[in-house]
Amino acid sequence: MNQMKRITAFLLMIVFAFAGCGNSAANKEELSSDDISRSQGNQIDQDDANALVIYFSRTGEQYNVGVIDKGNTAIIAEMIAQETGADSFEILPQEDTYPYTYAELTDMAKREQNENARPLYIGEVPDLSQYDVVFIGAPVWWGDWPMIMYTFFEDSADALAGKTLIPFSTHEGSGLSGFDRKLASACPGGIVGEGLAIAGTDAQNNQDSVRNTVKEWLTELGY
Ligand SMILES: Cc1cc2nc3c(=O)[nH]c(=O)nc-3n(C[C@H](O)[C@H](O)[C@H](O)COP(=O)(O)O)c2cc1C
Repeated sequence: MNQMKRITAFLLMIVFAFAGCGNSAANKEELSSDDISRSQGNQIDQDDANALVIYFSRTGEQYNVGVIDKGNTAIIAEMIAQETGADSFEILPQEDTYPYTYAELTDMAKREQNENARPLYIGEVPDLSQYDVVFIGAPVWWGDWPMIMYTFFEDSADALAGKTLIPFSTHEGSGLSGFDRKLASACPGGIVGEGLAIAGTDAQNNQDSVRNTVKEWLTELGY
C-alpha cells in the first residue's frame, strides 16, 4: 500500500513537471479594517464591492511546500480580493472530508473524481445577484477542478448566468488545466474571462513576484 502511494506521488511529480503552465497583472490599496463591513466565518464583505472571489484551498501537507497553514490558492484569492476590493468566500468542505497528508489526499481526490462525486461544502454562498464579476479559484486536482467545485457550479449555475466568471488555479505544472473550458461547460450562462495559473510553490515562496503577476493580469482584465 505504501509502495502504491510512493508510486502515485512519483507519477504525480512527473506529470506536474512536464505539464505546461499558463499565466498572465491594478493598483488598489491594501484592505483596511474600515473597508470591511462584515467578516464572518468563510465570508468577507466589503462595502459596494461588485466582484466576488470564491475559492477552495487546502492546508496541511501539500506537494513541494511541506506542511502549510495557508493554502496556495487561498494566498492568490486574498491577493485578488485585496487588489480589486472584491468580497470573498471560501468553499470549505464538511469536517473530516479530506485527509491531512498529501498521499492520502491524492488518493481520496482520485476516488472522488472516478466516482464523479459532489462533496458537500459548509456555509451559504453569498447572494450572487449583487455581483457582476466572480473570480473562481482552486488547486488543480488530477488535471481538473476539485469535485467540490462542481458541487458549487451545479448549485450556482443559474445564479451565475450573465456574469463574468474568471477562473484561477494553483498547480505544480498543469497550469490552468482547462479550468476555463470546464467552467464554461459547467456554467453555460456565464461569460468566462481570461484565467490565471500560478505555481503553488510560487504562491508560498515568491509572493512579491506573484503579486506583480496578479496585478498585471487584473490590469489586462480592466482593473
Ligand atoms: C489531490 C491533488 C491532486 C493534484 N493534481 C495536480 C495536477 O493534476 N496537476 C498539477 O499541476 N498539480 C496537481 N496538484 C498540486 C496542486 O495543484 C498544488 O499543490 C496546489 O497549489 C495546491 O493548492 P492549495 O494549497 O490551494 O490546495 C495536486 C495536488 C493534490 C493535493
